[in-house]
Amino acid sequence: MKIIMSTYDVEGVKQSLLEKVAGSDSPRDVLKAPEIRELYGVIGSLPAEERGAFGKQVNEVKLAVEAAIEARENELESADVVAIDVTAPWDVNSAQPALLPTEQGTQHPLTTELENVVDIFTRMGFEAVESRQIDDDHHMFGALNFPEDHPARDGYDTFRTEEGFIPPAHTSTMQHRILKDGKAKLEAGGQIAAISYGRVFRNEDVDATHEHTFYQCEGVFVSEDATLGQMLGTLRSFFETYYGQELRVKTQPAYFPFVEPGLEFAIEKPAAIGGKPGEWLEMLGCGMIHPNVLKDAGIDPTKYRGFAWGGGVERLVMLKYGIEDLRHFESGKLAFLRKFAS
Ligand code: DAH
Repeated sequence: MKIIMSTYDVEGVKQSLLEKVAGSDSPRDVLKAPEIRELYGVIGSLPAEERGAFGKQVNEVKLAVEAAIEARENELESADVVAIDVTAPWDVNSAQPALLPTEQGTQHPLTTELENVVDIFTRMGFEAVESRQIDDDHHMFGALNFPEDHPARDGYDTFRTEEGFIPPAHTSTMQHRILKDGKAKLEAGGQIAAISYGRVFRNEDVDATHEHTFYQCEGVFVSEDATLGQMLGTLRSFFETYYGQELRVKTQPAYFPFVEPGLEFAIEKPAAIGGKPGEWLEMLGCGMIHPNVLKDAGIDPTKYRGFAWGGGVERLVMLKYGIEDLRHFESGKLAFLRKFAS
């Protein structure tokens, strides 16, 4: 039989294909429907002068079917996600949407390592307080002997809210509180010995060694006769416990407005983790607490002396595990996190 183009109901075939797509759970299968094969077959059986125009119509059918398939697939995909009414009051008895099975979750490596750090200092007699994540100019700078408009403030790339609050750029913001809280104990013949640890923020360009969000740990010790030697012993003892081996340490002068003298404390990278002799790694800043910082907290600097230190936690952990890029920690990448799953 010779088919005449005008007698073939292309529009009817298209409608029936679109209906199939709309009702299908696997709409892509419709592309294999016999009607489609038939349409292509028809092209070949037409007289040459009709083929071009008919081919164009068949192509339009195919495009319409493909667009419908895509729309149907999107519809099916979003039907899988249970819609949550975020305005509804929370129902204690409601089933939670299933995310990842909780039994497969593990603690973030930084949390584990921070617990480790806190544990070491606690055993050395330090109290541990978590640092604030929102603070003010006085705790960030003023109470730490940064003069108004002093260029040292610029070194901290500090974020500020419109209201003038500060997401702290260092855990030193806790020093003033630790000193004020410990004053009574000090005056009763005791000592102040505390660490503060937590998340800090800096408005920096992010690369393998800089993050806008990271963790620090800070230490404060005050007594009638605290010495720099005690500080170096405390720090050395901490690092040797953390890395589980003896270490060579050294210091070099550095400027921080809240300590005098101020130092940078470095350890020699252990051979066990690929270090070469003379390969020094700067781990933290430290020094004897500046008299103005003690005075500001109501502590008499002629009677009491103290030392303080502060440094990044990620750096400690990176060295321990040979992690090459700081950005892994905040990335949320499962491949990275799973390396630490126990
Ligand atoms: N807060 C300093 C920083 O983030 C680190 C620091 C240096 C802390 C010396 C101290 C200190 O307590 O004494 O760069």
